[in-house]
Amino acid sequence: MGGFSFKKLAFAFVIAILVWVSSLETCNGRRGKHWRHTRGTLSSLYKKKGNNHGHQVITVEKSKPKSKSKTKQKHPLPTPEEPLAPPQKGSKFNVLDYGAQGDGASDDTKAFQAAWADACKVEASTMIVPSGYEFLVGPISFAGPYCQRNILFQLDGTIIAPTYAKAWGKSLLQWLEFTKLVGLTIKGKGTIDGRGSVWWTNSVLDDPIDNEEQLVISLDNITVTENPPVSSSMDGKMPSTKPTALRFYGSFNVTVTGITIQNSPQCHLKFDSCDGVLVYSLSISSPGDSPNTDGIHLQNSKNVLIHTTDLACGDDCISIQTGCTDVYVHDVNCGPGHGISIGSLGKDGTTACVSNITVRDINMHNTMTGVRIKTWQGGSGSVQGVLFSNIHVSEVEFPIMIDQYYCDHSSCTNHTSAVALSNIAYENIRGTYTVKPVHVSCSDSKPCMDVRLTDIELQPVPKGYHMYDPFCWQAFGELYAPTVPEISCLQQGAPSSSWSPDETGCAA
Ligand SMILES: *[C@@H]1O[C@H](CO)[C@@H](O)[C@H](O)[C@H]1NC(C)=O
Ligand SMILES: *[C@@H]1O[C@H](CO)[C@@H](O)[C@H](O)[C@H]1NC(C)=O
Ligand SMILES: *[C@@H]1O[C@H](CO)[C@@H](O)[C@H](O)[C@H]1NC(C)=O
Ligand SMILES: *[C@@H]1O[C@H](CO)[C@@H](O)[C@H](O)[C@H]1NC(C)=O
Repeated sequence: MGGFSFKKLAFAFVIAILVWVSSLETCNGRRGKHWRHTRGTLSSLYKKKGNNHGHQVITVEKSKPKSKSKTKQKHPLPTPEEPLAPPQKGSKFNVLDYGAQGDGASDDTKAFQAAWADACKVEASTMIVPSGYEFLVGPISFAGPYCQRNILFQLDGTIIAPTYAKAWGKSLLQWLEFTKLVGLTIKGKGTIDGRGSVWWTNSVLDDPIDNEEQLVISLDNITVTENPPVSSSMDGKMPSTKPTALRFYGSFNVTVTGITIQNSPQCHLKFDSCDGVLVYSLSISSPGDSPNTDGIHLQNSKNVLIHTTDLACGDDCISIQTGCTDVYVHDVNCGPGHGISIGSLGKDGTTACVSNITVRDINMHNTMTGVRIKTWQGGSGSVQGVLFSNIHVSEVEFPIMIDQYYCDHSSCTNHTSAVALSNIAYENIRGTYTVKPVHVSCSDSKPCMDVRLTDIELQPVPKGYHMYDPFCWQAFGELYAPTVPEISCLQQGAPSSSWSPDETGCAA
């Protein structure tokens, strides 16, 4: 009975609203003359704009349906059929309102797609993935290029990846992808969990292993690094291509902050062809023996800032690839992992260009390398302007490394061409190493130029491996302060066969 009377009350309320709205319409009607006048001016403005700009898409600014004509003059409506109440700038779109269950078992992919489709249309909208839920989401692309700017992806819940082969189709390069967006931010206290263990154990290891491992010789002849177990008897084989957990492509001014990304099948967070990348207060974690699980991978990206971040994974904590410039990394904890690397560059005779990279105030614990540049023989291009500063290493196998003979399988053919390295500074690198403190192995044809070593203090910590002295080959530059251990292999000045940056094929 109570429900019935409530319905009646609600009905009366609706009627009252309708009456009120129609009275507003009357008011508007009275102002009709002024309104029509405004309209006429506006439509001619609109036409002019259309003529001037050809196919240009005119974005409708959001204005309140009952706004005064003065406001309308600023924001012309292209057609009279425009809906009266477009979503407001800054609207919120919660995946729960789109049917997401968040029970960790139901497939919530469609709900995420639907929420995104709506959020995409509204400038500075927020797509909400609420806390207290676990959303099972399959491979998905949150794609521009027709989306509005400055969308916030508020992630406070957990997103988990499917672990059954059927969800992944044939081969996908990534699980969650954001493409062609401007000003997108992912933030919150949430987690992206790739649940990658099924991929790590289920795939044949055809991906590269770092060849530095060849230098690691256990004194009691026990293999130090074991290949992950290869299992062929799992229910449903996962595709051979392992996806990156979260990838940004072709985007401007993107931010990722607060969240945790863990157990990716492969790389955790990748930026490709982005301009303006900000990553801070991020946490990435996967086991130290999980294969190819880079932390953050940068490619063809510029104006990148990564700071105040914890990275623990099975491959490079940060990997900086070809086409990167103006990258600044500071206050990062790395380990376990393979360290922070530029490269590998120049594989299969490719041209690589990397410049203006700063990595400072880093803590490395129990990593394979510390700060490293690796290039293949046969490549071309250059790496110019690199500063590794204030790097604290603890039980790191190879704290300082340049390897221009990088090769991830047992035999690589010798080539004369190489990615040329110059203006590379290592300063204030301190702590402990377990195999070799300094390994700078440069190309015979393109010796490293302007390598500067300043304030190096590295103490050995025996961990049962054969230990080496510092090693340099074709490395030219300056040693600025006494170093521990003594580094006598760096050649002072410039090589006789010096090369010019102009001939490297990279824009200055
Ligand atoms: C380790 O291997 C080397 C060469 O393979 C051999 O000479 C040496 O005796 C081995 N050491 C032990 C402890 O087995
Ligand atoms: C990205 O941000 C910078 C600095 O705030 C700004 O100058 C630039 O216009 C932005 N890029 C785009 C495409 O909005
Ligand atoms: C190098 O990159 C930083 C950002 O990391 C930028 O502020 C600086 O202007 C760049 N320097 C040059 C010479 O381009
Ligand atoms: C490549 O060069 C190195 C050093 O000169 C040499 O030891 C090695 O045998 C060469 N490898 C091949 C495949 O020619």
